[in-house]
Amino acid sequence: MKAFTLHAEQVVKTYGGVVALADGNLTVQSGEVMALLGANGSGKSTLSKILTGVISPNKGRVLIDGKAVTFGAPDDARRIGISAVYQELSLIPDLTVAENIWLAHEPLRAGFVNRREMRNRTQSLLDLFKGMVKPNLTPDVTIAGLTPDERQIVEILKALSFDPRLMILDEATASLDSQQVNRLFELVRGWKSQGMAVVFVSHRMEEIFRIADKATVLRNGRTVGERDIAATHERELVDLMIEGAAVLQRERAPDGRTDQPVRLSLENLKTDTLKGVSLQVHDGELLGLGGLQGQGQSDLLMAVFGAIRSSGAITLSGQKQHFSHPRQAMKADVALVPGDRGSEGLLLIRSILENLMLASWNTYGTPIRMNQARQDGTRVADEMRLIRSSLDAPVSSLSGGNAQKVVIGKWLLRSPKLLLLNDPTKGIDVGAKAEFYHLLKQLRDAGTAILFYSSDDDELLGLCNRVLVLHDGQVSAELHGAELTREKLVAASMGAA
Ligand SMILES: Nc1ncnc2c1ncn2[C@@H]1O[C@H](COP(=O)(O)OP(=O)(O)OP(=O)(O)O)[C@@H](O)[C@H]1O
Ligand SMILES: [Mg+2]
Repeated sequence: MKAFTLHAEQVVKTYGGVVALADGNLTVQSGEVMALLGANGSGKSTLSKILTGVISPNKGRVLIDGKAVTFGAPDDARRIGISAVYQELSLIPDLTVAENIWLAHEPLRAGFVNRREMRNRTQSLLDLFKGMVKPNLTPDVTIAGLTPDERQIVEILKALSFDPRLMILDEATASLDSQQVNRLFELVRGWKSQGMAVVFVSHRMEEIFRIADKATVLRNGRTVGERDIAATHERELVDLMIEGAAVLQRERAPDGRTDQPVRLSLENLKTDTLKGVSLQVHDGELLGLGGLQGQGQSDLLMAVFGAIRSSGAITLSGQKQHFSHPRQAMKADVALVPGDRGSEGLLLIRSILENLMLASWNTYGTPIRMNQARQDGTRVADEMRLIRSSLDAPVSSLSGGNAQKVVIGKWLLRSPKLLLLNDPTKGIDVGAKAEFYHLLKQLRDAGTAILFYSSDDDELLGLCNRVLVLHDGQVSAELHGAELTREKLVAASMGAA
């Protein structure tokens, strides 16, 4: 691959009165991984989309080897070798994996789509993630039946199918488990050695330090610095990102709290993926669920919430409770925070306030006590540092991470007795994460029973006293006290007892 340098210079993008990007600057060269860092709403996705021609800037330039380029559309950017995985997934549910990957650039023979070639090339791409996805992920399955991590992998392969020389990965790891991330990083190292440039956006600091060579930091839409990864450290980057950043305090409860009454008890719970799980969560306990993606963690939470069918016994506060609909669960003060803001949890054209209130309107009486609702909504939005122009703006105008804060805030407003968290912090920045951890600890200390699935091992290690690791639909380990270490977590995730 021919060496090249890409510059983005003083790029500005506004939406009406909202400044999405005030002064975006970025330089990346072939053979280099440039991390693009910043808090939620700082302009990372906006800058990424400008580099790929999805949106056009109001001001500023993009240069390749010193020559200005303008893109009318993403096709123009692809033609010169820039490809991206966007934060919002873009696959068409009814088309197959192969059709999605090759959409609008199908391999042709004599003017017709060469379907066999298309299948073969898709299979070679899927083989890059061999062992990391279920074997039934083939070129011919439709997207609709895939899990979030599988969709994410297809998005990555789609971007790769354009054979780019600059690849932009905007939160492409947020839905992947640690093994899948490892594989992606192996691939990225391979791409680098072939001279590809990579722009890497992630809110997981640990990933930045593993894969990036340099980091460009955005704050409030402005590039505020570039650092060599080898010559910086997490604290410096966080300070650049967030003014007066809270020190990331991750502390476990003083001890296990297992002397409190049992709030939730499961006995031999089974679903399509769960093969019989038993557990107990006590009031005031933050019980972690770990393991690789798709080992039954989501199923477990959804089954307790009444969102999917299950067999076995579910006991809530001493009473058998097998909910057949989430409405019943909500009535019993159970809340579920989904991790996938796209398909669950938000009405995009509705306002932020309406979305925050979505789960709680019934608690505000008829006629609705609107002032009280607005007060409560404002409090939760402030606690979560939700960056917005107003609570009446549509949720669709929020950055990805800020939208996820609305999903979380919506359930916190209900003050649940049992809180089910399904990988809730995907895509939210370090500052908001710290706030969220703080809220979780408050809830825990106030006696809420919390069942917390996270794909981020650091979170489980930092917040939980006890973690159940799921593997293949079963509990492969229960770790607590001195047993609760990263090594043991990883080993148990792989199914080792
Ligand atoms: N279509 C839009 N209309 C109005 N405002 C927008 C639009 N797109 C982005 N914004 C605003 O521009 C700012 C930057 O958004 P952007 O999505 O680039 O942030 P980000 O750094 O990618 O954040 P995150 O980490 O949450 O993904 C945000 O305040 C966002 O609300
Ligand atoms: Mg973004």
